[in-house]
Amino acid sequence: MCGIIGYTGQRPAGQIILDGLRRLEYRGYDSAGIALFDANHELYVARAAGKIDNLISKIEGSLPPAVSGIGHTRWATHGAATDLNAHPHLDPAGRVAVVHNGIIENFEALRRPFVERGLAFSSDTDTEVLAFLIADEIQAGVDLARAVQNVVAQTQGAAAVVAICCDEPGRIVAARVGNAGGIVIGHGDGERFVASDLAALLPHTRRVTFLEPGEVADIRPDEVTYYDTAGHVIAKPVETQPWDPVAAVKGRYKHFMLKEIHEQPDTALDSVRGRYLTAPHRVEVEDLPFTAEQVRDFNRVVLIGMGTSMHAAMVGRHYLERYARIPAEVDNAAEFRYRSPVLDPRTLVISVAQSGETIDTLAAMDEARRAGCPQITICNTPGAQTTRIADATVYMRAGPEIAVASTKTLVGSMIALHALGLHLGRLRGALDAETSRRQVEGALHLPAAIGETLLLEPRVAELAARYAAYEDFLFLGRGLSYPMALEGALKLKEVSYIHAEGYAAGEMKHGPIALIDERMPTVAIALRDEVRDKMRSNIEQVKARRGRVIAIVSADDVSLDGIADDVLRLPEVEPDLSPVLTAVVMQLLSYEIAVERGADVDQPRNLAKTVTVE
Ligand code: F6R
Repeated sequence: MCGIIGYTGQRPAGQIILDGLRRLEYRGYDSAGIALFDANHELYVARAAGKIDNLISKIEGSLPPAVSGIGHTRWATHGAATDLNAHPHLDPAGRVAVVHNGIIENFEALRRPFVERGLAFSSDTDTEVLAFLIADEIQAGVDLARAVQNVVAQTQGAAAVVAICCDEPGRIVAARVGNAGGIVIGHGDGERFVASDLAALLPHTRRVTFLEPGEVADIRPDEVTYYDTAGHVIAKPVETQPWDPVAAVKGRYKHFMLKEIHEQPDTALDSVRGRYLTAPHRVEVEDLPFTAEQVRDFNRVVLIGMGTSMHAAMVGRHYLERYARIPAEVDNAAEFRYRSPVLDPRTLVISVAQSGETIDTLAAMDEARRAGCPQITICNTPGAQTTRIADATVYMRAGPEIAVASTKTLVGSMIALHALGLHLGRLRGALDAETSRRQVEGALHLPAAIGETLLLEPRVAELAARYAAYEDFLFLGRGLSYPMALEGALKLKEVSYIHAEGYAAGEMKHGPIALIDERMPTVAIALRDEVRDKMRSNIEQVKARRGRVIAIVSADDVSLDGIADDVLRLPEVEPDLSPVLTAVVMQLLSYEIAVERGADVDQPRNLAKTVTVE
């Protein structure tokens, strides 16, 4: 989770950027840096590992009287938290400076031609090559905005990129690639700002413009020119944000739930940072206190949680079994505690709770503590009660979730559990290199894949308009998609008050099939995996009873076209991580249906965000 801030105008840029970095420090805290134009229009660059204070003491008294520049706070993905890996990054001649938030998946391939030309990179980051590429374009006579466009077109992944060049001090070019890494432009009087977060701009201006994926902004003190993906100039509105901090946080979204659904590429980005590592591919989860010997000694895992968090735990169970080869089971925390469960000090208990204050989960954790079980909790709230009971916490890194229905914390917890499974699998010697490589690459691609999934929104809205009047729904899935069938049904119930049931598809013939008729649509998760043919039979069974079917299928799968009534195609993704994309599309479906029905999406009746009573 990196923070970006840039300024161009008439005021001292250095101070404005340092103030902005302070406001962004919560985003990343392992290093920071700044690039400004000095009096000779050369680049002044300072970078320091650690907190912003380290950067400030490093540059004490040496800030040039610049009126334009960029700054960055970093949370490492590629390369350790060192001065050299801190942003901004420069080209070999030191004329182009770049800051970046995101992951460039193909950075090694992009670096190769420069290495072959004998050029050396001074950092381990995926960012530095962007400065090299932009400088090459400029050298070839290409204008800075076009150069940035050409370079981001070669990158794979999701990112926000901001660049400056000595040839034109006072000009900043910002690009948003894919759906992760937001960019917002602030409009002042004869001055412009650019930032990763609205919060960094509000002290200066309320007049802002958000970049959409694929767009580029060419920023000068008096004007901003916007380009679309094809490089055509486009007009974009200036929106005035209210000062009210909560409303400002909701930004341009009608509901927090929708905003939080759209934040999920960033949640994925933040969740993989520093955990999923390349060269060699491996996963390291921070702050786990168990030695490899202790981890090898675990003979069983019990995962507990409630509601959406329990559904994440059900997905996590697959990861623990697949990668760490530990027998794993899932329990509803409220049931677990009253069952007198059989536990011992070799049973690892993993709890999932975004709030970290859910009473049922806390009570179940107390039960596990009494039995002497080692405990890990997956949580989104720093310092919450679950984090105090557990021996270790793996954070969801989703940021504040305001809507009552959980969305981005589900994605954060599933990725945390995926990382945990791989980490424990490595320590237990149960993981082969190929699985590790595939899973790391799959996870690093998630921010981009979630971004693509969000592009289904208009199609989902169109389906919602057609299906919103039904009063009963069935959700079916198998394997990794079974917990997502439960989740799809839960989300729909919560926000639209429609009766919905989630089932393991194999269970359908054992009772639920009696419900099916033309008044009960089925959402069938039928991805291309080892159970797809079985799902297809289940869909045929529903159709034979005049049920309507919305099928969620894998990219390019046309086998259910003409069989299902409606098909939603997910982007390509590593199959083990498909629940993340399925969750996103089902969140969109529940949200759009709820809006169609005029429900109070953010605060559904009878529900509370944190459940502290039994
Ligand atoms: C569903 C939802 C709830 C929570 C459940 C557990 O959208 O939000 O089902 O998942 O109340 O909450 P935490 O994760 O805070 O323990």
